Amino acid sequence: MNTRHFLTLLDLTPQELQGVLDRALVLKKMHYDGEIYEPLKNKVLGMIFEKSSTRTRVSFESGMAQFGGSAIFLSPRDTQLGRGEPIEDSARVISRMVDVVMIRTFAHEIIERFARFSRVPVINALTDAHHPCQLLADLQTFVEHRGPLKGKTFAWIGDGNNMCNSYIHAAHQLDFQLKIACPYGFEPDPELLETYSRNVELVKTADDAARDAHLIATDVWTSMGQESEQSIRKRRFSMYQINPRLMDLADPEALFMHCLPAHRGEEISEDMLDDPRAVVWDEAENRLHAQKALLEFLVTGAKS
Ligand code: CP
Ligand code: NVA
Repeated sequence: MNTRHFLTLLDLTPQELQGVLDRALVLKKMHYDGEIYEPLKNKVLGMIFEKSSTRTRVSFESGMAQFGGSAIFLSPRDTQLGRGEPIEDSARVISRMVDVVMIRTFAHEIIERFARFSRVPVINALTDAHHPCQLLADLQTFVEHRGPLKGKTFAWIGDGNNMCNSYIHAAHQLDFQLKIACPYGFEPDPELLETYSRNVELVKTADDAARDAHLIATDVWTSMGQESEQSIRKRRFSMYQINPRLMDLADPEALFMHCLPAHRGEEISEDMLDDPRAVVWDEAENRLHAQKALLEFLVTGAKS
Protein backbone atom coordinates (compact mmCIF):
# COMPACT_ATOMS: atom_id res chain seq x y z
CA MET A 1 0.00 0.00 0.00
CA ASN A 2 1.32 3.43 -0.91
CA THR A 3 1.79 5.76 2.05
CA ARG A 4 -0.27 8.90 1.58
CA HIS A 5 1.21 12.22 2.70
CA PHE A 6 -0.30 15.68 3.07
CA LEU A 7 2.47 18.08 2.08
CA THR A 8 0.23 20.35 0.04
CA LEU A 9 -3.46 20.42 -0.82
CA LEU A 10 -2.57 18.77 -4.13
CA ASP A 11 -1.80 15.49 -2.33
CA LEU A 12 -5.53 14.76 -2.02
CA THR A 13 -7.93 14.65 -4.93
CA PRO A 14 -10.69 17.29 -4.92
CA GLN A 15 -13.15 14.53 -3.92
CA GLU A 16 -10.91 13.43 -1.04
CA LEU A 17 -10.51 17.02 0.13
CA GLN A 18 -14.26 17.54 0.02
CA GLY A 19 -14.64 14.29 1.96
CA VAL A 20 -12.25 15.49 4.67
CA LEU A 21 -14.13 18.80 4.95
CA ASP A 22 -17.49 17.02 5.21
CA ARG A 23 -16.08 14.62 7.78
CA ALA A 24 -14.66 17.53 9.83
CA LEU A 25 -18.19 18.87 10.27
CA VAL A 26 -19.43 15.43 11.39
CA LEU A 27 -16.52 15.01 13.84
CA LYS A 28 -17.20 18.49 15.22
CA LYS A 29 -20.81 17.58 15.94
CA MET A 30 -19.81 14.27 17.52
CA HIS A 31 -17.35 16.16 19.75
CA TYR A 32 -20.02 18.69 20.76
CA ASP A 33 -22.42 15.82 21.51
CA GLY A 34 -19.83 14.27 23.82
CA GLU A 35 -19.62 11.11 21.72
CA ILE A 36 -16.50 9.04 22.43
CA TYR A 37 -14.88 8.04 19.15
CA GLU A 38 -11.40 6.52 19.27
CA PRO A 39 -10.33 5.39 15.79
CA LEU A 40 -6.65 6.06 16.61
CA LYS A 41 -6.50 4.13 19.91
CA ASN A 42 -2.87 3.21 20.66
CA LYS A 43 -1.68 5.23 17.65
CA VAL A 44 1.06 7.83 18.06
CA LEU A 45 1.62 11.11 16.25
CA GLY A 46 5.20 12.46 16.16
CA MET A 47 5.17 16.27 16.05
CA ILE A 48 8.36 17.95 14.85
CA PHE A 49 8.34 21.69 15.44
CA GLU A 50 11.24 23.74 14.10
CA LYS A 51 9.16 26.94 14.46
CA SER A 52 6.85 28.22 17.21
CA SER A 53 3.18 27.29 17.39
CA THR A 54 0.10 27.61 19.56
CA ARG A 55 -2.88 26.48 17.43
CA THR A 56 -1.13 23.74 15.49
CA ARG A 57 0.41 22.08 18.52
CA VAL A 58 -2.71 22.27 20.69
CA SER A 59 -5.06 21.12 17.93
CA PHE A 60 -2.94 18.12 16.92
CA GLU A 61 -2.27 17.06 20.51
CA SER A 62 -5.90 17.44 21.55
CA GLY A 63 -7.10 15.73 18.39
CA MET A 64 -4.91 12.68 19.04
CA ALA A 65 -6.03 12.51 22.69
CA GLN A 66 -9.70 12.73 21.67
CA PHE A 67 -9.13 9.96 19.14
CA GLY A 68 -7.69 7.69 21.85
CA GLY A 69 -4.10 8.06 20.70
CA SER A 70 -1.19 10.20 21.84
CA ALA A 71 1.29 12.72 20.49
CA ILE A 72 5.00 13.31 21.09
CA PHE A 73 6.31 16.88 20.84
CA LEU A 74 9.78 16.96 19.28
CA SER A 75 11.76 20.18 19.05
CA PRO A 76 15.21 20.50 17.46
CA ARG A 77 16.42 21.84 20.82
CA ASP A 78 16.02 18.44 22.46
CA THR A 79 16.43 15.98 19.56
CA GLN A 80 19.37 14.98 17.39
CA LEU A 81 17.69 16.88 14.53
CA GLY A 82 19.02 20.04 16.14
CA ARG A 83 22.52 18.55 16.23
CA GLY A 84 22.65 17.80 12.54
CA GLU A 85 21.32 14.23 12.24
CA PRO A 86 20.24 14.03 8.58
CA ILE A 87 16.55 14.41 7.81
CA GLU A 88 16.59 11.13 5.88
CA ASP A 89 17.96 9.19 8.89
CA SER A 90 15.53 10.89 11.28
CA ALA A 91 12.64 10.02 8.96
CA ARG A 92 13.66 6.36 8.77
CA VAL A 93 13.96 6.08 12.56
CA ILE A 94 10.97 8.14 13.73
CA SER A 95 8.62 6.58 11.19
CA ARG A 96 9.42 3.07 12.51
CA MET A 97 8.13 4.12 15.94
CA VAL A 98 5.07 6.27 15.31
CA ASP A 99 2.00 5.96 13.08
CA VAL A 100 1.94 9.44 11.57
CA VAL A 101 4.28 12.44 11.62
CA MET A 102 3.54 16.14 11.56
CA ILE A 103 6.29 18.63 10.70
CA ARG A 104 6.57 22.41 10.93
CA THR A 105 9.80 23.58 9.36
CA PHE A 106 11.47 26.12 7.08
CA ALA A 107 12.27 25.02 3.48
CA HIS A 108 9.50 22.95 1.90
CA GLU A 109 12.18 20.64 0.53
CA ILE A 110 12.92 19.44 4.10
CA ILE A 111 9.46 17.96 4.50
CA GLU A 112 9.62 16.42 1.01
CA ARG A 113 12.88 14.69 1.94
CA PHE A 114 11.39 13.47 5.22
CA ALA A 115 8.32 12.11 3.43
CA ARG A 116 10.46 10.29 0.88
CA PHE A 117 12.08 8.23 3.65
CA SER A 118 9.06 7.88 5.93
CA ARG A 119 7.11 4.64 6.33
CA VAL A 120 4.11 6.52 7.68
CA PRO A 121 2.03 9.50 6.52
CA VAL A 122 3.67 12.91 6.86
CA ILE A 123 1.58 16.05 7.39
CA ASN A 124 2.79 19.55 6.58
CA ALA A 125 2.08 21.71 9.63
CA LEU A 126 3.60 24.74 7.86
CA THR A 127 6.65 25.28 5.73
CA ASP A 128 7.95 28.50 4.18
CA ALA A 129 5.96 27.54 1.07
CA HIS A 130 2.64 26.07 2.25
CA HIS A 131 0.24 25.79 5.19
CA PRO A 132 -2.35 23.26 3.97
CA CYS A 133 -3.76 22.32 7.41
CA GLN A 134 -4.80 25.94 7.94
CA LEU A 135 -6.63 25.85 4.63
CA LEU A 136 -8.64 22.80 5.73
CA ALA A 137 -9.83 24.84 8.71
CA ASP A 138 -10.50 27.96 6.63
CA LEU A 139 -12.52 26.02 4.06
CA GLN A 140 -14.45 24.16 6.75
CA THR A 141 -15.26 27.48 8.42
CA PHE A 142 -16.48 29.03 5.20
CA VAL A 143 -18.69 26.05 4.38
CA GLU A 144 -20.06 26.03 7.93
CA HIS A 145 -21.08 29.68 7.70
CA ARG A 146 -21.91 30.14 4.04
CA GLY A 147 -22.25 26.77 2.27
CA PRO A 148 -20.52 25.41 -0.86
CA LEU A 149 -17.24 26.88 -2.08
CA LYS A 150 -17.74 26.33 -5.79
CA GLY A 151 -18.35 29.55 -7.65
CA LYS A 152 -17.42 31.82 -4.72
CA THR A 153 -14.86 34.62 -4.99
CA PHE A 154 -12.24 34.93 -2.26
CA ALA A 155 -9.73 37.71 -1.73
CA TRP A 156 -6.22 37.24 -0.42
CA ILE A 157 -4.78 40.60 0.62
CA GLY A 158 -1.25 41.04 1.97
CA ASP A 159 1.84 38.87 1.63
CA GLY A 160 2.17 36.33 -1.19
CA ASN A 161 3.36 33.84 1.42
CA ASN A 162 2.81 30.20 2.48
CA MET A 163 -0.86 30.86 3.27
CA CYS A 164 -1.39 32.60 -0.06
CA ASN A 165 0.18 29.65 -1.91
CA SER A 166 -2.13 27.24 -0.13
CA TYR A 167 -5.12 29.45 -1.00
CA ILE A 168 -4.05 29.18 -4.65
CA HIS A 169 -4.02 25.38 -4.41
CA ALA A 170 -7.40 25.44 -2.66
CA ALA A 171 -8.94 27.62 -5.39
CA HIS A 172 -7.76 25.12 -7.99
CA GLN A 173 -8.83 22.01 -6.06
CA LEU A 174 -12.25 23.24 -4.94
CA ASP A 175 -13.00 25.49 -7.88
CA PHE A 176 -13.50 28.94 -6.43
CA GLN A 177 -12.07 32.21 -7.73
CA LEU A 178 -9.23 33.87 -5.86
CA LYS A 179 -8.19 37.51 -6.25
CA ILE A 180 -4.79 38.34 -4.79
CA ALA A 181 -3.50 41.80 -3.92
CA CYS A 182 0.07 42.14 -2.66
CA PRO A 183 2.60 44.97 -2.59
CA TYR A 184 4.98 45.01 -5.54
CA GLY A 185 7.77 42.49 -4.89
CA PHE A 186 5.74 40.40 -2.43
CA GLU A 187 3.55 38.54 -4.92
CA PRO A 188 3.31 34.73 -4.90
CA ASP A 189 5.44 32.63 -7.25
CA PRO A 190 4.58 33.66 -10.87
CA GLU A 191 4.66 29.99 -11.89
CA LEU A 192 1.87 29.20 -9.42
CA LEU A 193 -0.16 32.14 -10.74
CA GLU A 194 0.37 30.97 -14.30
CA THR A 195 -0.43 27.32 -13.58
CA TYR A 196 -3.66 28.11 -11.76
CA SER A 197 -4.72 31.16 -13.80
CA ARG A 198 -8.16 29.63 -14.43
CA ASN A 199 -9.02 30.23 -10.77
CA VAL A 200 -6.51 32.85 -9.64
CA GLU A 201 -6.01 36.49 -10.58
CA LEU A 202 -3.44 38.99 -9.35
CA VAL A 203 -5.02 42.44 -8.96
CA LYS A 204 -3.44 45.81 -8.24
CA THR A 205 -4.96 47.13 -5.05
CA ALA A 206 -6.57 45.84 -1.88
CA ASP A 207 -9.83 47.53 -2.99
CA ASP A 208 -9.73 45.62 -6.30
CA ALA A 209 -9.43 42.31 -4.47
CA ALA A 210 -12.03 43.14 -1.81
CA ARG A 211 -14.78 44.31 -4.16
CA ASP A 212 -17.72 41.82 -4.05
CA ALA A 213 -15.58 39.09 -2.42
CA HIS A 214 -17.34 36.44 -0.35
CA LEU A 215 -14.31 36.05 1.89
CA ILE A 216 -11.37 38.32 2.68
CA ALA A 217 -8.35 36.60 4.19
CA THR A 218 -4.99 37.88 5.28
CA ASP A 219 -1.99 36.95 7.39
CA VAL A 220 0.93 38.61 9.14
CA TRP A 221 3.17 40.82 7.03
CA THR A 222 6.31 39.19 8.46
CA SER A 223 6.27 35.42 8.65
CA MET A 224 8.41 33.28 10.93
CA GLY A 225 11.98 33.37 9.68
CA GLN A 226 11.62 36.85 8.08
CA GLU A 227 12.04 38.89 11.26
CA SER A 228 15.01 40.88 9.85
CA GLU A 229 12.66 42.34 7.17
CA GLN A 230 10.07 43.52 9.67
CA SER A 231 10.53 47.30 9.39
CA ILE A 232 10.72 47.40 5.59
CA ARG A 233 7.68 45.12 5.36
CA LYS A 234 5.69 47.40 7.68
CA ARG A 235 6.28 50.29 5.29
CA ARG A 236 5.65 48.36 2.09
CA PHE A 237 2.43 46.72 3.31
CA SER A 238 0.75 49.76 4.86
CA MET A 239 -1.86 50.03 2.05
CA TYR A 240 -2.89 46.40 2.55
CA GLN A 241 -4.49 46.57 5.99
CA ILE A 242 -7.87 44.87 6.39
CA ASN A 243 -10.39 47.04 8.20
CA PRO A 244 -14.19 47.40 8.30
CA ARG A 245 -14.07 50.05 5.52
CA LEU A 246 -12.36 47.59 3.18
CA MET A 247 -14.82 44.86 4.22
CA ASP A 248 -17.67 47.19 3.21
CA LEU A 249 -16.53 46.86 -0.43
CA ALA A 250 -17.04 43.10 -0.26
CA ASP A 251 -20.26 41.13 -0.69
CA PRO A 252 -22.81 42.02 2.04
CA GLU A 253 -22.45 38.43 3.35
CA ALA A 254 -18.64 38.49 3.28
CA LEU A 255 -16.56 36.88 6.01
CA PHE A 256 -13.11 37.77 7.29
CA MET A 257 -10.45 35.19 8.17
CA HIS A 258 -6.92 35.31 9.54
CA CYS A 259 -4.93 32.21 10.45
CA LEU A 260 -3.61 33.98 13.57
CA PRO A 261 -1.58 35.12 15.40
CA ALA A 262 -2.73 38.61 14.33
CA HIS A 263 -1.09 41.99 14.75
CA ARG A 264 -3.69 44.64 15.44
CA GLY A 265 -2.64 47.97 13.92
CA GLU A 266 -0.65 46.20 11.16
CA GLU A 267 -2.35 43.74 8.79
CA ILE A 268 -5.68 44.33 10.55
CA SER A 269 -7.13 47.43 12.18
CA GLU A 270 -7.54 47.49 15.97
CA ASP A 271 -11.27 46.78 15.61
CA MET A 272 -11.24 44.15 12.82
CA LEU A 273 -11.46 41.05 15.00
CA ASP A 274 -14.47 42.52 16.83
CA ASP A 275 -16.32 43.05 13.55
CA PRO A 276 -19.24 40.61 13.16
CA ARG A 277 -17.86 39.54 9.78
CA ALA A 278 -14.71 38.14 11.43
CA VAL A 279 -14.92 34.38 12.07
CA VAL A 280 -11.35 33.90 13.26
CA TRP A 281 -12.21 32.08 16.50
CA ASP A 282 -14.30 29.49 14.66
CA GLU A 283 -11.50 29.27 12.12
CA ALA A 284 -8.95 28.59 14.88
CA GLU A 285 -11.20 25.98 16.53
CA ASN A 286 -11.72 24.21 13.24
CA ARG A 287 -8.02 23.38 13.11
CA LEU A 288 -8.95 20.69 15.64
CA HIS A 289 -11.87 19.20 13.74
CA ALA A 290 -10.34 19.46 10.26
CA GLN A 291 -7.06 17.86 11.32
CA LYS A 292 -8.92 15.05 13.11
CA ALA A 293 -10.64 14.35 9.79
CA LEU A 294 -7.27 14.44 8.05
CA LEU A 295 -5.63 12.12 10.63
CA GLU A 296 -8.49 9.66 10.34
CA PHE A 297 -8.22 9.71 6.55
CA LEU A 298 -4.43 9.23 6.48
CA VAL A 299 -4.03 6.76 9.33
CA THR A 300 -7.08 4.53 9.05
CA GLY A 301 -7.51 4.99 5.32
CA ALA A 302 -11.17 5.66 6.08
CA LYS A 303 -13.14 6.64 3.05
CA SER A 304 -13.87 10.28 3.82
N1 CP B 1 -2.34 29.50 12.45
C1 CP B 1 -1.34 28.76 12.98
O1 CP B 1 -0.76 27.88 12.35
O2 CP B 1 -1.09 29.08 14.28
P1 CP B 1 0.14 28.58 15.15
O3 CP B 1 1.39 29.21 14.57
O4 CP B 1 -0.15 29.11 16.53
O5 CP B 1 0.22 27.10 15.12
N1 NVA C 1 2.67 33.08 7.38
C1 NVA C 1 2.80 32.84 8.79
C2 NVA C 1 1.73 31.91 9.27
C3 NVA C 1 1.75 31.64 10.73
C4 NVA C 1 0.71 30.66 11.17
C5 NVA C 1 4.18 32.29 9.09
O1 NVA C 1 4.68 31.48 8.29
O2 NVA C 1 4.78 32.70 10.08
